[in-house]
Amino acid sequence: MKAIIIDLKFNSTRTAGAVEAAFAGREVINLSNPEHAGCDLSKAGYALVWKPEADLFRRAPNLDIIFSGGAGVDHIMNADGVPPEVPIVRFVDQTLTTRMSEWIVLQCLTHLRQMAGYAAQQKAKIWSEFAQPEAKEVTVGVMGLGVLGQDSVAKLKMMGFDVIGWSRTKKQIDGIETFDTAGLDAFLARTDILVGLLPLTPDTTGLYDAALLGKLRRGGALEKPVFINAGRGKSQNEADLIAALADGTLRAASLDVFETEPLPSDSPFWSMDNVIMTPHASAASDARALMRHVETEMARFESGQALRYLVDRTIGY
Ligand code: NDP
Ligand code: OXD
Repeated sequence: MKAIIIDLKFNSTRTAGAVEAAFAGREVINLSNPEHAGCDLSKAGYALVWKPEADLFRRAPNLDIIFSGGAGVDHIMNADGVPPEVPIVRFVDQTLTTRMSEWIVLQCLTHLRQMAGYAAQQKAKIWSEFAQPEAKEVTVGVMGLGVLGQDSVAKLKMMGFDVIGWSRTKKQIDGIETFDTAGLDAFLARTDILVGLLPLTPDTTGLYDAALLGKLRRGGALEKPVFINAGRGKSQNEADLIAALADGTLRAASLDVFETEPLPSDSPFWSMDNVIMTPHASAASDARALMRHVETEMARFESGQALRYLVDRTIGY
């Protein structure tokens, strides 16, 4: 059996335990283990990576499959020396999908029910009720209708929101009006809460800018639009986003991802009252589920079956 390289920058004690418990009978080279640091990688057949070492692909020229430690693959696509012919398999699993939908629904409800306003009132010992629009009066527009976007729209719908979606290619989803790239302006004009669940590609870099945010619906049940992003931070133009949050173009934002992570201490986001932040933690990869997924796909490959969750290298996700 060919060896597997593990290069997961989110390595934690739990991840190390999951790696140790997996891959029975196979050589595992875990680069976070100091004893494995200088190992010969030239014969390894597989690599499971999250933000791989700069020289990893040069040191491992005989890979059959590259596995992403997460759903996103920009950390691989943008890495040095990624062999163009080697298949890249991304992480798709119910654990991750469910976590993301929990976070998206939580943020939408937080803005709908004005929890930031109540938290401020609690601090000031103010007993006063805000208006309570119903979820059905608020349109949530989800950009990205892939694995995560489709689960999120279903759960938002279940909570009663009016939900619409946008993706590169048009989708048919029961009860949801969908738009493709040509319908972007129409989609934005209907949207009160914009949810970003897009991969980072050249087409989506800097997409959420002043022009786009300015096209969102104003005067809806929340009065001003809200922006929520859990896709990738480099899809947002942060200077434009900060200006939009300061000048009232946007009512508020929930951000899990940032142009630079960890978020620099001098970022204005830290002290903006109308911004809710989490540290790229909306949907962490469950280590045991990740190892199971890699073992399953390696077994499929070794028995001649087709790999699932393959990245299309031409479109970049
Ligand atoms: P998928 O590949 O399943 O879906 C991607 C969706 O984005 C598809 O609907 C695709 O359109 C759409 N899309 C891509 N490019 C464009 C474009 N240029 N214009 C319009 N639509 C576009 O990915 P997932 O749903 O699994 O994950 C989405 C992203 O979420 C990941 O790539 C990652 O960046 C991020 N993520 C963040 C996490 C976090 O913790 N913050 C955790 C996990 C993922 P089409 O359907 O037509 O192909
Ligand atoms: C992912 C992530 O892509 O956690 O899975 O960002």
